[in-house]
Amino acid sequence: PAPGWSIDADVVVVGSGVAGLTAALRCEAAGLRTVVVTKARLDDGSTRWAQGGVAAALGEGDTPEQHLDDTLVAGVGLCDENAVRILVTEGPGAVRRLIETGAHFDESEEGDLELTREGGHHRRRIAHAGGDATGAEISRALVEAVRARGLRTIENALVLDLLTDADGRTAGVSLHVMGEGQHDGVGAVHAPAVVLATGGMGQVFAATTNPSVSTGDGVALALRAGAEVSDLEFVQFHPTVLFLGPDAEGQQPLVSEAVRGEGAHLVDADGVRFMVGQHELAELAPRDIVAKGILRRMLEKDAEHMYLDARHFGADMWEHRFPTILAACRAHGIDPVTEPIPIAPAAHYASGGVRTDSHGRTTVPGLYACGEVACTGVHGANRLASNSLLEGLVYAERIVADITAEHAANGLHARVPEPVEHPEKPAHPLQSPEARFAIQRIMSAGAGVLRSAESLAQAAEQLQRLHADARDALDENGKTAEPGVDTWEATNLLCVARVLVTAAQQREETRGCHWREDEPDRDDAAWRRHIVVRLNPDRT
Ligand code: SIN
Repeated sequence: PAPGWSIDADVVVVGSGVAGLTAALRCEAAGLRTVVVTKARLDDGSTRWAQGGVAAALGEGDTPEQHLDDTLVAGVGLCDENAVRILVTEGPGAVRRLIETGAHFDESEEGDLELTREGGHHRRRIAHAGGDATGAEISRALVEAVRARGLRTIENALVLDLLTDADGRTAGVSLHVMGEGQHDGVGAVHAPAVVLATGGMGQVFAATTNPSVSTGDGVALALRAGAEVSDLEFVQFHPTVLFLGPDAEGQQPLVSEAVRGEGAHLVDADGVRFMVGQHELAELAPRDIVAKGILRRMLEKDAEHMYLDARHFGADMWEHRFPTILAACRAHGIDPVTEPIPIAPAAHYASGGVRTDSHGRTTVPGLYACGEVACTGVHGANRLASNSLLEGLVYAERIVADITAEHAANGLHARVPEPVEHPEKPAHPLQSPEARFAIQRIMSAGAGVLRSAESLAQAAEQLQRLHADARDALDENGKTAEPGVDTWEATNLLCVARVLVTAAQQREETRGCHWREDEPDRDDAAWRRHIVVRLNPDRT
């Protein structure tokens, strides 16, 4: 259907996590007419689920340079050093401004920020809130600020496609708004600047720490709009996700790295600390190394999971420092005070995404990307723990600086979008809601934590079959599934899954969180480079 309604703005921010709401608040403060659109409710994204915290050189003796070093090591040769330098030098100020916006971080009795450690960090530099509820506090503070300042928000609004003018510049987005209200059905927000802050794509796998809304919508939109996407093969698997059985699907409870940061041990069923001797930081090695260590031990022992042992914390520490994790474990019948926690790796974070420069500009004029949806270059082949909230904060501010500079120099001129009919495009026929589960199983089996040419080829073939079936249905009936959130989400998942698998097939080496059983070594001569993808909009 063609958009049935439209509203005008200077900037439309798509997504309402730390990146989106920071961008929106700063745009509004700069006097720009700002609209936030979000797929579910304002606080329904991944930010709310973040536990560990925000990494920044805020502690005594710490410096941005040390934070830079740890980030570059974790990224295994693929970080953009300039992007990381920006992150670590602007990070401490961005955290302070978040505190001024209203977020309360945990403090010592003397009023200093309490800092913890996580994998890959040589220092205590992770600020946290509510013990292990950092994301929930950040989300609360930002949502409250957005409401207090009366920002225009449209909830339950799934973004469909980027609108562009006759010269290919951004002119807004089309949306499908669900439910009763002022705006309903398919409509559009017209704006010359669009900030994508739609979060990740963890739902492309069967078991993930991501909420159900993390379906790669922003990356799929950007691909359909002809923007460049980079590093999609680098999916980070969090080492310690509560193990709820081999067939558990959907969002799984995270057991923060901060639990290891405070001294928990990874052990096998015999109580052996298997990370000791594998890396100088043992359980606090970078995340990819710990995830591999756990999976290797699982394979060696033919075990479905390993254990995280933090009984020595005692009840008081568990209750005060990690109340969220304690409650989640107890809700599943495990008491970490008296027994080790069963854990296994699960999909957690997309290190790649829509390719941007150091001001969050994508390759489509007027389209910006920020937070997990973006690939700014700070994560390389493996994101350092707790750099993601920080990236959202820092790069949101840089995007707003760029938009306001453009506004001051040239004015933000409304652009006339080319008419769109939203026909089902042969390149992206709508998938049925059930396709989501098929995609997740295919991806977990073929493109999960351990991959090979064979497993990836099988995944590619199965995904291609889903695509071809929908395309055939389109040819026969002119239509596939009923347009709706489920079908668009499944279509977006298939789009990003296919690109992810293609990139993983191409990268014939093991680096960071891309682990190839058949190519177990890092190949700097051939592969110290990025895989960048741009789709031809009409190609199937
Ligand atoms: C965690 O708390 O372990 C997650 C931190 C992160 O993903 O950066």
